[in-house]
Amino acid sequence: MAGLLLNFRNTMILSVVFAIIMLFAFSQGPHGMDQTYWQAVFRWMHVFFGVLWIGLLYYFNFVQTRKMPDIPAELKPAISKYITPEALFWFRWSALFTVLAGLGVAALRGHVYAAKVLTLGLAGGYDPSDRGFTLMGVGVWLALVMFLNVWGVIWPNQKIALGIKEADADAKAKAARTATLASRINLLLSLPMLTSMAMYQTLYG
Ligand code: HEM
Repeated sequence: MAGLLLNFRNTMILSVVFAIIMLFAFSQGPHGMDQTYWQAVFRWMHVFFGVLWIGLLYYFNFVQTRKMPDIPAELKPAISKYITPEALFWFRWSALFTVLAGLGVAALRGHVYAAKVLTLGLAGGYDPSDRGFTLMGVGVWLALVMFLNVWGVIWPNQKIALGIKEADADAKAKAARTATLASRINLLLSLPMLTSMAMYQTLYG
């Protein structure tokens, strides 16, 4: 068992196998494998990728960026050459899969729900009973802005800052600052976004 646990890939494979057994057990419930079941499966994938994405955003902001100035110059490359590129790999791809699975959940809840949420409750005319869609829509749009920030600002600038893309020292410093600011914007938006994601289901169904 220790051999298995010391291997990241095998541990993840086993975790997925256990999860698939759980998914199968849930498929034996009242919904069988109807559309609601698949909505639940997409919700599960959505939350997994969301945790991975925002977990790494929090790692960067709670730990790495704050501690970087304290690290002696000769040790900094261990972070910038080994840790950050690997973290950014999981970060940007989990962001993409969070969005895809999230849009999947919305689509599987039906086109009326998806249209209402994506238009902040306005599709088909606004009614005060649409407040839940507005609140959920705000969260979805905050998350979409965060996603565009990851792929459109953070990653292109990190490629320059980390030397994955050639640039002079000046351009590197500028890119590092831009990437940090964009990452801080995502940190700022993350809690209001999560409020919407986590409150909606319980209060509006
Ligand atoms: C553009 C990106 C996103 C889209 C389109 C999206 C969409 C959705 C949708 C449609 C739901 C279902 C709400 C309902 O019950 O009707 C949901 C729930 C949820 N989302 Fe997102 N989301 C996005 C980003 C995120 C991110 C970044 C996280 C971070 C962890 C996240 C975490 C959650 C959680 C925890 C739930 C609640 C699940 C539940 O209560 O059953 N989402 N999201």
